Amino acid sequence: MRIGILGSGLMGGKLGTLFARAGHEVVFSYSRSEKKLSALAREAGKNARAGTPYQAVREADVILFAVHWSRFDDVLSQSGSVAGKVIVTCSLPMNAGNTALVVGHTSSAAEELAKRARDAQVVSAFNTVPSEVLFGVYDARDKAPRPSLVYCGDGARGKKVAASLIRDVGFEPLDAGPLRNARYTEPFALLVAELAYGGRGGPELTYRFERVR
Ligand SMILES: NC(=O)c1ccc[n+]([C@@H]2O[C@H](COP(=O)([O-])OP(=O)(O)OC[C@H]3O[C@@H](n4cnc5c(N)ncnc54)[C@H](OP(=O)(O)O)[C@@H]3O)[C@@H](O)[C@H]2O)c1
Repeated sequence: MRIGILGSGLMGGKLGTLFARAGHEVVFSYSRSEKKLSALAREAGKNARAGTPYQAVREADVILFAVHWSRFDDVLSQSGSVAGKVIVTCSLPMNAGNTALVVGHTSSAAEELAKRARDAQVVSAFNTVPSEVLFGVYDARDKAPRPSLVYCGDGARGKKVAASLIRDVGFEPLDAGPLRNARYTEPFALLVAELAYGGRGGPELTYRFERVR
């Protein structure tokens, strides 16, 4: 797949690198430092390059949306049309201090993004794990059992794409239903963050749901 990365920070930088390693064509964009984008692309190898948000989106089948809640409108204003694209978003609706959700109960960051990108298929994924686990999960992808990763969305095509990228990174995708269920997965992400960053064992925390028969 051709994947445009909007937001090349902790999440976008690492996920973009892993997508490139998994064989996808990746364009890193939307950093305040062009040098950082070039370095990311160089380190991610031959499948990756740096670009503007407009270039990243124009040439992509899939967009990874990985920016702070406060940057949603700004990055979309630079992206050009997202019509027909699958947007996989890991973004959470955090306040400026990253201490609380500013949207919840009646909406979610993913639904708010879908309202701003009506012609795209938005899928919420990758937001329920800390960035610190991503390379380790990728390195352990041949070991069973894999950690779970919940995702939700409304379009079958977008969900299929998201599930495939989740598998590429080394997780087992867990379909959490329609996009409105991001109202549940986003607060769950804060629980995982609380356990990861507030606990004693370090932030490298994943989760796995098991069904007891
Ligand atoms: N980090 C995690 O473990 C984690 C886990 C789950 C969900 N999330 C969510 O995923 C999204 C991305 O998180 P992240 O940790 O990857 O964030 P981050 O490291 O801060 O990356 C955000 C990206 O946006 C870019 N950006 C461009 N203009 C900006 C501006 N004016 N102000 C701030 N940033 C600007 C940053 O640029 P620079 O490159 O110049 O910094 C960076 O590339 C957020 O919505 C977050 O809530 C994060």
